Amino acid sequence: MEIKIIKKNKKNFLDLLLLGDEQEDMIDKYLESGKMFALYDDDDLKSICVVTKEGKDVIEIKNLATYEKYQRQGYGSKLIKYIFEYYRDKCKTIFVGTGDGTSNVSFYEHCGFKLSHKVKNFFIENYDHPIFENGVQVADMIYLRKEI
Ligand SMILES: CC(C)(COP(=O)(O)OP(=O)(O)OC[C@H]1O[C@@H](n2cnc3c(N)ncnc32)[C@H](O)[C@@H]1OP(=O)(O)O)[C@@H](O)C(=O)NCCC(=O)NCCS
Repeated sequence: MEIKIIKKNKKNFLDLLLLGDEQEDMIDKYLESGKMFALYDDDDLKSICVVTKEGKDVIEIKNLATYEKYQRQGYGSKLIKYIFEYYRDKCKTIFVGTGDGTSNVSFYEHCGFKLSHKVKNFFIENYDHPIFENGVQVADMIYLRKEI
């Protein structure tokens, strides 16, 4: 398994980026300034993650995705663990925002994040189409945080 930092042509990963954040103009807001990590196993891309610096000692995970056929095989957690190590001496707090009530919340809790705060109606006000998970519309963004 290998994790690479991607500096050029980040849009080549658009299929995976859209799995983590389904509107391209929202991705464009953080892709250039963000640091992109890509996890490969057997030379095959499995997962990506984009992280931004949000202030002194604070970073945010803006996008994380594992190809559907490789989900629940530990790749997402391995990438998050790598990011904890990578940033351990560079920052103190990691935030991640995701749809309130989605299964992603369980994933981030599994990775050691704790619930922080909500942004009411974030997905309704910032996306040009309704976002659904398992047939239920997602309205609020829930932030989780972890101290590293
Ligand atoms: C969220 C995501 C990145 C997790 O990646 P992954 O490679 O499947 O994660 P892992 O295999 O490391 O999962 C580790 C643990 O997290 C939890 N978890 C992961 N996906 C879950 C789900 N859909 N429902 C409930 N718990 C889940 C489980 O505890 C899992 O352990 P287990 O499989 O032994 O039960 C992946 O589901 C994904 O790409 N989803 C679509 C994109 C997306 O919504 N990204 C989040 C943007 S904020």
